[in-house]
Amino acid sequence: MEFIIKKWLVVLIVFFSANYLQQCVNGKSQVPCLFIFGDSLSDSGNNNNLPTSAKSNYNPYGIDFPMGPTGRFTNGRTSIDIITQLLGFENFIPPFANINGSDILKGVNYASGAAGIRTETSMAKGFVISLGLQLKNHKVIISQIASRLGSLNKAQEYLNKCLYYVHIGSNDYINNYFLPQLYPTRHIYSPQQYAEALIEELSLNLQALHEIGARKYVLSGLGLLGCTPSAIFTHGTDGSCVEEQNDIASIFDFKLKSLVDHFNNKFSADSKFIFINSTSESDSQNSNGFLVANAPCCKTRLIGGCIPDERPCYNRGEYVFWDEFHTTEAWNLVTATRMYDSYNNLVFTYPMDIKNLAEQETMKDLEPINVITSKLSASS
Ligand SMILES: *[C@@H]1O[C@H](CO)[C@@H](O)[C@H](O)[C@H]1NC(C)=O
Ligand SMILES: *[C@@H]1O[C@H](CO)[C@@H](O)[C@H](O)[C@H]1NC(C)=O
Repeated sequence: MEFIIKKWLVVLIVFFSANYLQQCVNGKSQVPCLFIFGDSLSDSGNNNNLPTSAKSNYNPYGIDFPMGPTGRFTNGRTSIDIITQLLGFENFIPPFANINGSDILKGVNYASGAAGIRTETSMAKGFVISLGLQLKNHKVIISQIASRLGSLNKAQEYLNKCLYYVHIGSNDYINNYFLPQLYPTRHIYSPQQYAEALIEELSLNLQALHEIGARKYVLSGLGLLGCTPSAIFTHGTDGSCVEEQNDIASIFDFKLKSLVDHFNNKFSADSKFIFINSTSESDSQNSNGFLVANAPCCKTRLIGGCIPDERPCYNRGEYVFWDEFHTTEAWNLVTATRMYDSYNNLVFTYPMDIKNLAEQETMKDLEPINVITSKLSASS
């Protein structure tokens, strides 16, 4: 009985958020622009032409996406796609690899499947775009924005208003630290030291991003890496999560949350950072009425991706996982809705949710008085 009620609750949430998405379509977006940094959880096509095995631009990926397979690692929309819609954008943010015909002033998606904070992460899978390289690509875009707007100053002023979404780090564990036969990190660092090294490098990249105009940051934690079908299958745990992996990854999450506090102090004059607790969202053992939490919907091959052209499960709304690593659109809808509006639940989003962050007036007090005056007279 309880199970059935829970299931209906999910259906209702999905129904209401679908309606909500409709309402946003005609309005103006809450922020003028959104820049996305990350891995396969956010990639929308950057790996399609890269020499890597980390690809998803083939059937059945995208089976529920209007444009079919695009390089998204799920059956439909990713979490950031849904957040993009909740923010009121009319179109999805284009991948850096294919900005042809898109308005880069609305933002660019630099995320690359299998990418990590560390450059050597996922090297065994070929070449992917690590966080440092994603930042380099962002600099290319900034100079294009500067020439569109007329000056670097104008570009900076504009970039201050954008949202910067950074969700990266899972591969530094899954495709690095958890594979000691391929990568040396496990032999060099204790779990504590490794999380520290990752946060240090991430922190340097975030400060570099601040120097080139970023002011509003969404930093997402790692989620339950030990609960993916891949982890469960590899460790033969008979369906239950690999707690050792969850514990190791949670060290990173707590340090990331502390980093948010640190930056909110350090940059209190002009910036806001928030932390997303993906653990509380992706608690697949507590599966909110989803029928299947520990097996993939599509038929998978050894590396964990879907087998090309094989028919996936038909009840995709009842599966948490699409392939052995990535969640279904149905699950993404539940989590993205909560990230966007957490109803002040600090367990999910800290110290505020994305909706609140988007509404923050950063830099306002630094605007020269004549700018404010002209704005006031323009609106009267
Ligand atoms: C860019 O888009 C235009 C029109 O859609 C197309 O003709 C052109 O071939 C595209 N260029 C690239 C490099 O994809
Ligand atoms: C994330 O949320 C879970 C509860 O759902 C909590 O146990 C955990 O401590 C939280 N993690 C962080 C880093 O706050």
